[in-house]
Amino acid sequence: MPDAGNIRIDGHTLLAGVIGWPVAHSRSPLMHNWWLRQGGINGAYVPLPVAPGQFETAVRGLLAAGFRGVNVTIPHKESAYRIVDRLHRSARRSGSVNTLVFDSDGKIEGYSTDGDGFVANVEAHGIAVNGGRALLLGAGGAARAIAASLLDRGMEVLVANRTRARADALAASLEGVVVVDWAQAGSVLPGCAMLVNTTSIGMEGGAQAQFPLDLAQADPALVVCDIVYVPRRTGLLEWAAGHGLRTVDGLGMLIHQAGLGFEKWFGAKPDIGPAVEALLDADLRHPRARDAG
Ligand SMILES: NC(=O)c1ccc[n+]([C@@H]2O[C@H](COP(=O)([O-])OP(=O)(O)OC[C@H]3O[C@@H](n4cnc5c(N)ncnc54)[C@H](OP(=O)(O)O)[C@@H]3O)[C@@H](O)[C@H]2O)c1
Repeated sequence: MPDAGNIRIDGHTLLAGVIGWPVAHSRSPLMHNWWLRQGGINGAYVPLPVAPGQFETAVRGLLAAGFRGVNVTIPHKESAYRIVDRLHRSARRSGSVNTLVFDSDGKIEGYSTDGDGFVANVEAHGIAVNGGRALLLGAGGAARAIAASLLDRGMEVLVANRTRARADALAASLEGVVVVDWAQAGSVLPGCAMLVNTTSIGMEGGAQAQFPLDLAQADPALVVCDIVYVPRRTGLLEWAAGHGLRTVDGLGMLIHQAGLGFEKWFGAKPDIGPAVEALLDADLRHPRARDAG
């Protein structure tokens, strides 16, 4: 349970939150409220469980009630894309929105920060993202955002997805993406500089399927990234470390993707450093905290 600390709610409190279904697992309230307390900001960030079909009604209500904006998570990222008044380039490129900013003129701005959050986290690990070939496993919303950001940084992007049609649709909307059959992903692994799992394989309570590749065939310089962050050390990352490969987990992406929204809603840059990472890491390890969401 996030510590309420010295949060005082009054008529001047700046409000934001995260809309999802379910949303109880989200660590965003813990992170944003911690940043608010650290910055001495009169603000609050709340989880907002909104069922499919109710997304637009909820957003219009929050706008009318004076919220500054919201994060959007599963399954609403594509609905968010459809209702915004102004789409930032990041959202247009990725075809999804994870951050809504309600402007003072009553308009809704939409951003996608997943891709740049992913890249910022990889760079924070001392790894340059400026060329070479990346293999993305998965073709969902997060894959789209990451593919767009990697292409923008001059990387060659290959995508393999269990459902081929979804990978084809991604490639049709993002020029430069090359689709590889899911079953053939292993054949393109040698020569790749980066492997990114964007599927829910390995996620606690999620799919536990096998990846269609053998890390023994990888170039020794391969960087293996997993955007799943519950658990933080996924089976893929353990497997990669066992082969002596460099790894990047998904927790830093969660932190980096949150920065833009915080700044827009609350008017200050959050501290994207080791302290917030330690806070989230401790929460992920503590089952009671996890149950409480
Ligand atoms: N670290 C972060 O900040 C961050 C941010 C966003 C998302 N995430 C995580 O990233 C993951 C994906 O999120 P998303 O929004 O992209 O979800 P999504 O749009 O629902 O996409 C899910 C992807 O997983 C694949 N998949 C699911 N079960 C599979 C299985 N058994 N075998 C092979 N592929 C399977 C799907 O393939 P099909 O198309 O074949 O179904 C699809 O490519 C989630 O675990 C989410 O928590 C992390």
